[in-house]
Amino acid sequence: MYRIIYPNLTSNSFPYNDQFIKQYHIIQYDKEMSSVADSVTIEVLHEKHFADLARMQKDFLNSKFMCCCIPLGSDENEARVRRVYNKCPEMMKVGAVCVLDDRVVGFIQMVLHGMPCDLHKVEKGEAYVYMIAIDPDARGMGIGTKLLNWSEEIARERGCQKMSLDVVGGNKAIGLYERKGYSAQPESCISLPFTFLFVCFVMGPIIRPTGSPAYYSRGRAISMEKELE
Ligand SMILES: CC(C)(COP(=O)(O)OP(=O)(O)OC[C@H]1O[C@@H](n2cnc3c(N)ncnc32)[C@H](O)[C@@H]1OP(=O)(O)O)[C@@H](O)C(=O)NCCC(=O)NCCS
Repeated sequence: MYRIIYPNLTSNSFPYNDQFIKQYHIIQYDKEMSSVADSVTIEVLHEKHFADLARMQKDFLNSKFMCCCIPLGSDENEARVRRVYNKCPEMMKVGAVCVLDDRVVGFIQMVLHGMPCDLHKVEKGEAYVYMIAIDPDARGMGIGTKLLNWSEEIARERGCQKMSLDVVGGNKAIGLYERKGYSAQPESCISLPFTFLFVCFVMGPIIRPTGSPAYYSRGRAISMEKELE
């Protein structure tokens, strides 16, 4: 499997012969992608990560559409991150950052039953992936996969039988979740926050056409689940 890393190339229809691969700086997925992921270390959340967490959450949320063009991550800062974890320090044990060459390049946060969660009602035995994001320059190298693997391991250790998450239709991340064995659940009653997000994402392209292209087409929330063996 090959991945195009040359920024201006978009077509998938070229013949992937050696000359083409060399000319357009294509690298082999299995060799190079996994070697980057191999050199990434995963660290369970610690206070020292709060500044990086705030930066990454801000970047992630600011890339999303918002009614009236207000960036979603406008009030993200280290103090807010600290307040969240001070309310429930247990959440730090089910969250992690990934570090590449001494730089924090991504994070994942799970929520288990009994922990505060504004997006989803987390049942007993369920591990909900609240947020996952990788810095733009480190995406597509297997780091997100590694964080998801880590989260499943922790969930199993905590006795969970099921992983779950919500994703907005059209997000490329759906491909990753499907590859990891998650499947979309039949639509149920959409919760209030997602109705709000839906309005933002549908209205977003009209109000703020330069926002995240991942959300242009289908703004509805999709719930995905995976049984843990
Ligand atoms: C989704 C995300 C966490 C995946 O992390 P990653 O390190 O890029 O993932 P991996 O390299 O392990 O796997 C790549 C897969 O992620 C998906 N993906 C999503 N966004 C991607 C991006 N910008 N670049 C590359 N792959 C992306 C693709 O399905 C890809 O699958 P493929 O290799 O079969 O094409 C990361 O791309 C990201 O931070 N995206 C923006 C934030 C976001 O949408 N978070 C999810 C909210 S539900």
